[in-house]
Amino acid sequence: MKSFIIFLIVVVSVCILITVNAKAADGEKVFISKCAGCHSLELALKKDYDQKKWVSTVERMKGFGLKINSSETSAVAEFLASREKK
Ligand code: HEC
Repeated sequence: MKSFIIFLIVVVSVCILITVNAKAADGEKVFISKCAGCHSLELALKKDYDQKKWVSTVERMKGFGLKINSSETSAVAEFLASREKK
């Protein structure tokens, strides 16, 4: 019984880790595939913006011709904002 509970805890932890990592990787993937077309990724990586400022910056990039949907926008904003806090 005890080892079954430990097994359950391990399974749940692995699931949480996979979810968190998948989310982070997603925003990074979108960033690399969508943002390198017009300028270097370095340009964005140098900025110290929060999530909200990133959303508005990405929205502004649409005006230059960026094609991105709203879930990709929030994924990129989250990736870039979380990166800056480290
Ligand atoms: C269709 C072309 C295009 C794409 C795609 C694009 N950008 Fe830009 N970006 C520009 C242009 C042009 C400028 C410079 C003009 C300006 O800053 O107003 C710029 C400037 C920037 C700047 C500096 C200015 C600021 O507001 O801080 C950042 C940061 C930035 N882009 C981030 C991104 C991110 C993040 C993505 C991907 C989601 C992206 N860009 C995709 C065209 C693009």
